[in-house]
Amino acid sequence: MCGIIGFAGREQAAPILLDGLARMEYRGYDSAGIAVRSEAKGLQVKKAKGRLQVLSDLTHGGADLEGTLGIGHTRWATHGEPNDINAHPHVSENGRIALVHNGIIENYLEIKEQLQRHGVKFTSDTDSEVVAQLLEFHYNECHNMLEAVGRVLRRIQGSYAFGIICSDYPNALIAARKDSPLILGYGENGNYIASDVTAIIKHTRDVVYMEDGEIAVVTAENIDVFDSEMNPLEKKHSQVDWDVSAAEKGGYAHFMFKEIMEQPEAVRKTLSPRVRDGRVVLDDVKLTAEYVKNISRIFIIACGSSYHVGMVSKYSWERLLRRPVQVDLASEFRYSDPLVDENTLVIVISQSGETLDTMAAMREAKSRGARTLAVVNVVGSSIAREADDVLYTWAGPEIAVATTKAYTTQLVLMDLIGLYLADLLGTVEKSEYDAILAEMQVLPEKMRRLLEHFEDVQYFASRYFNHNSIFFIGRNLDYAMGLEGSLKLKEISYIHSEAYASGELKHGTISLIEPGTLVVALGTYAALFDKAMSNVVEVKARGAEVLAVTTETFKEKMEKTADSTIVVPDTHPILQPSLGVVPLQLFAYYVALQRGCDIDKPRNLAKSVTVE
Ligand code: M6R
Repeated sequence: MCGIIGFAGREQAAPILLDGLARMEYRGYDSAGIAVRSEAKGLQVKKAKGRLQVLSDLTHGGADLEGTLGIGHTRWATHGEPNDINAHPHVSENGRIALVHNGIIENYLEIKEQLQRHGVKFTSDTDSEVVAQLLEFHYNECHNMLEAVGRVLRRIQGSYAFGIICSDYPNALIAARKDSPLILGYGENGNYIASDVTAIIKHTRDVVYMEDGEIAVVTAENIDVFDSEMNPLEKKHSQVDWDVSAAEKGGYAHFMFKEIMEQPEAVRKTLSPRVRDGRVVLDDVKLTAEYVKNISRIFIIACGSSYHVGMVSKYSWERLLRRPVQVDLASEFRYSDPLVDENTLVIVISQSGETLDTMAAMREAKSRGARTLAVVNVVGSSIAREADDVLYTWAGPEIAVATTKAYTTQLVLMDLIGLYLADLLGTVEKSEYDAILAEMQVLPEKMRRLLEHFEDVQYFASRYFNHNSIFFIGRNLDYAMGLEGSLKLKEISYIHSEAYASGELKHGTISLIEPGTLVVALGTYAALFDKAMSNVVEVKARGAEVLAVTTETFKEKMEKTADSTIVVPDTHPILQPSLGVVPLQLFAYYVALQRGCDIDKPRNLAKSVTVE
């Protein structure tokens, strides 16, 4: 989704802004722009629809814009179509104030009408321009930029992260946030603001996370942070502990492929510090045994792939915990008048930790007394900071829009949490507990071996990439895994694809199976393998082409019936999806590659969905 960067320093700002924007390209955008202030030329703004390269060419890599203070933005259109005019920065009518904005201003129409009555002329269709114009309006009244920002913030409703510069203030940029992430970075050659740490990691690891309602004044020498009443604040600094190379392709053709290949290491990092002396140790959570015993119900809330992790966990947790586990889409949960209370444990899962629906659902649950535990990848993100407890997946930065290593690390972390809770509840036999933990220890190695055979999947992709509609079928954990396999395929290859619980086929979907239809049949869940086989026979009888995924144990049986078979190593049933999903990720990747798709930045999608 939209990206913000700002710089106040002792170097030319434009190249820094362009580089920062390039590092946020993965978030998804449709236009970009920068504004730089110089003594000689005042505010200079350049914006362009399309790829960042267009903007870079337009400014000769930033060389055309002189000045050491500036802001930049990549826009993912919400209000107004993607074009040069609607791109940010937006400039106030007299040309003195430039602003970049992430989020949505809900009462912008009302403010716009008011300003129009005062004769203000608007050029764009955006809610963000309204804020730039409102700022000018208040600045003209009080002649103090910080005061004007304060007045604006009291007037607007909605979510925002702002970066603001004004031609009357040669050295300072102003930042403010509410419900949209914003980070302050302390560098050698100046200071930064960014919506995403990847934008500034090249320059600094010393950051401060802004909280809702806070305002910052950033100069080359200093950053002053204030609360909404303009009282100065002392902020805690954090050190970002991953380095630049983690957010670079490192010789791989695509981030997605690199991230698929990084999974064994990411899973190891997520698991190993939490397994000590044959026990699951979750030092970071404050859940007491007494609280856990009183849990009557568990909700898992998330969106997209994180929701699919929840679907897998429902099957494994109900088996381990003998408690009802309900998985809800965050966007549905938040408006469903949910039945949660102080005996409900709400798990929220989010790679970015910034997904607006997930955040809102978590707040809704908290307001009803539920305890919240967040499973998050991005350290210091909004969800991580607001949850009662947070457990991080140590996947490192994930750049490709299609999640892979964040998904598998979420899976294994959820397995660990499930095991931990089951142990507290006494609902898991020691032998099963030990068996799961033992298998977890060797999971990264099994994943590594599996990935060595990536070319097998590449072969199947080259055989099937021309299909226009693909079905994923499976039962129990295989069904939940199929949801993710199907999403992976459709989001990056644009092939229509659906996942079904195999038992549901006969209740409608089977009518779509005709000679040549590709069905990806998932048969890794040992307890229901025979049923899975029956479904393979059923679709074969209607002419389907079957690409199966199964385990070493069932390889022979499956190969007799399926047209093509991908084999994954055996492991404990609850861990099987962590291995089974890997060839599905690779399949999606290679199919998209064959079809010439923009793999890391699929159309219309954003990495972090910070609007509703
Ligand atoms: O950052 P989150 O995990 O909250 O994001 C939720 C979804 O937007 C995300 O999982 C999305 O479905 C993936 N990019 C799909 O690959």
